[in-house]
Amino acid sequence: METLRIITEEHRSFWRIAIALEQVADELEAGSPVDPAFFQAVFEYIEKFADHAHHRKEDDCLFPLMRLRSAEAGPLVDALQEDHRQAILHLAAMRQAFAQATAGQQAALVQSLRDYCRKLKSHIHTEESKALPMARKTLLAEDWREIDARFQENNDPLFGKEAQAEFQELYHRVVSLAPESVGLGAHSGGVLQTPMPASGGDVLLKVTGLESSYGRIKALKGLNLEIRRGETVALVGANGAGKTTFLRTLSGVQPMGAGHIWFDGEDISRVRADQRMCRGICQSPEGRQVFGPLTIEDNLRLGAYTQPKQQVPEDLEKVYAMFPILKEKRKLPAGTLSGGQQQMLAIGRALMGRPKLLLLDEPSMGLAPLLVQEVFNVVKALKAQGMTIILAEQNAFAALALADRGYVLETGEITLTGSGQDLIHNEQVRAAYLGM
Ligand SMILES: Nc1ncnc2c1ncn2[C@@H]1O[C@H](COP(=O)(O)OP(=O)(O)O)[C@@H](O)[C@H]1O
Ligand SMILES: [Mg+2]
Repeated sequence: METLRIITEEHRSFWRIAIALEQVADELEAGSPVDPAFFQAVFEYIEKFADHAHHRKEDDCLFPLMRLRSAEAGPLVDALQEDHRQAILHLAAMRQAFAQATAGQQAALVQSLRDYCRKLKSHIHTEESKALPMARKTLLAEDWREIDARFQENNDPLFGKEAQAEFQELYHRVVSLAPESVGLGAHSGGVLQTPMPASGGDVLLKVTGLESSYGRIKALKGLNLEIRRGETVALVGANGAGKTTFLRTLSGVQPMGAGHIWFDGEDISRVRADQRMCRGICQSPEGRQVFGPLTIEDNLRLGAYTQPKQQVPEDLEKVYAMFPILKEKRKLPAGTLSGGQQQMLAIGRALMGRPKLLLLDEPSMGLAPLLVQEVFNVVKALKAQGMTIILAEQNAFAALALADRGYVLETGEITLTGSGQDLIHNEQVRAAYLGM
């Protein structure tokens, strides 16, 4: 029944696209110009991912088995498959309305976008409230083996593995090209390369008995944890659990009361924050904390202040290649960036320190829905490059989905640990953090 989770996760992507398109429709109606690159990217994403991958798999294997196992399924599945056919026609209609839209003549496009989003949402709602529960009830174990085998190709909670590279890139283009109000608002999609991951390495970070307090209140009560080189480790827990305190203690800006931190074979418990940064512990802080009056480029340079000067131009270009919007706006004050752009800047700034261990504190917090996934895509791209990452997130599902391992933190104590997949399937975690 892994398929049910994959389908639901893909629905979330479509839902985010729909929310973004609805907002774009409102902006078009209010007189914003049509951006051809953005619409081409959206149409291509819908055609390739929604129509040709997601719908096709349902039509080819999930729906026929539902018909076979339950007489009741017939009318419901008929209606859903009709939606799939209509969606293809609707895409053609949107493309036509887009081709004919000119300045001041965007009403047909606005209408077509709104209709599409309304139908898409209603279709998702029907699948999730009726079809998927019916499948869960009526299909047999052997059916699920067959269906899961087909959907396993998508066996990646954020994006299908087979399809991963292509669809991730398509989604990335949509987000990059989307207007600033809903996406990054860059003029080019940029590159989000995903080279081969590094193989599992030795222990890079080891923490024992770590305590930290605010006055008399102990925020961390003796943490023990280990991170291997090349691992992405999620640190999940409710607001106030101690995630930020932990990351700040690692980077040395928060004093520790007891315990030890070993990094790259060295006991750094007494090493100052700037010296830890020199050694490669770089943090993207909660709430981004970019320096508003400074230019974007100067913010990035700040991230490299512990590094040799001669490598800065090359590293700037690497960050710009990943986040083209930052290059475009490099001379502007960072305060003029949208929330999503500031998050990219905060991550870019941390990358300028050439991290051996990258600490990301709630990178998805407070972002537009379309961007939440994009931030996780960025983390995935870094992970694929072999970066070692600690990802602190309240958004537990997405964080655990892409992490190799996770730790659950509750009021300053680690209460559970395991592989990302184990934790996602853990009843306790599902009840407490995933709302299931
Ligand atoms: N500057 C501070 N002064 C006093 N208490 C704090 C401060 N920052 C955090 N705390 C407390 O420490 C605990 C852990 O907070 P925090 O590390 O921010 O958790 P999280 O990042 O998981 O939301 C909470 O009880 C919080 O109220
Ligand atoms: Mg926090």
